[in-house]
Amino acid sequence: LAETTAGATPYPSTVYAHRGFSYAAPENTLPAVDAAAAAGIEWMENDVQRTRDGALVVIHDATLARTTDVEAKFPTRSPWRVGDFTQAEINTLDAGSWKGPQWTGTRVPTLARYLARLDANGQRLLLEVKRPELHPGLAADVVAELRRLGWLGTAHTGRLIVQSFDLASLKAVRTRAPQVRTAFLTDDPSLANLPGCTAVADQIHLEHTRVTAAYVDAVHLRRGPHRRQVKLVVWTVDDPARTGQLLALRVDGFITNRPDAISEAATTA
Ligand code: G3P
Ligand code: CA
Repeated sequence: LAETTAGATPYPSTVYAHRGFSYAAPENTLPAVDAAAAAGIEWMENDVQRTRDGALVVIHDATLARTTDVEAKFPTRSPWRVGDFTQAEINTLDAGSWKGPQWTGTRVPTLARYLARLDANGQRLLLEVKRPELHPGLAADVVAELRRLGWLGTAHTGRLIVQSFDLASLKAVRTRAPQVRTAFLTDDPSLANLPGCTAVADQIHLEHTRVTAAYVDAVHLRRGPHRRQVKLVVWTVDDPARTGQLLALRVDGFITNRPDAISEAATTA
């Protein structure tokens, strides 16, 4: 697999669109999904959190302040934490105009709405259980919702990976849905921690400046919960020049805000 041939991918790699195609459209929204689909990008990376009334919504930050007009609409509700608002309240917010006037009216999607769009587009999902310390039991709620929406069945085999910086959340996913692939997010390439991580994670997702050849090799020597070789994916890589360096180290994938440019670089490196 690592053999290089002229004009071909030097090492097979997967590109994940970070927060959707977040360079082209507002992050973690349906327009960012559609922008990725238009660019031929299959895999989305997105973040899920929980509202005050228990709905699951796709959003990155712990607060609504940066990516919505919440401060204008709810001026007395500082610090505008996601978990302090109901889904109905969040659905009144504009999650697009911060990125540009053409995105005005874009909503923070529920996970259900988001998955429906992925299904319609034939896309795949790398879903991050985000800030579980702020949302106790979030991983269990995410699994229940994925099950309710049909994303744990055989029709979605190979179309879903759940990731987290929190190993306990990955364990909670594995306990409830052992068929789901899991990935551990980290910026610590510690060899000592690898056995514990790969007991619950099929992939290690490492901050890209921390990658070394020795670490990639050590990861590739391990088998994950599904008994396959553990993959090493890097985040967040937006520079095409960096792609070739990382492929030479045999990384298996890239999480990127520029899935178009990185896909192109990965196939021509
Ligand atoms: O998937 C890697 C990356 O998403 C982790 O960082 O802050 O963008 O969720 P963040
Ligand atoms: Ca993320």
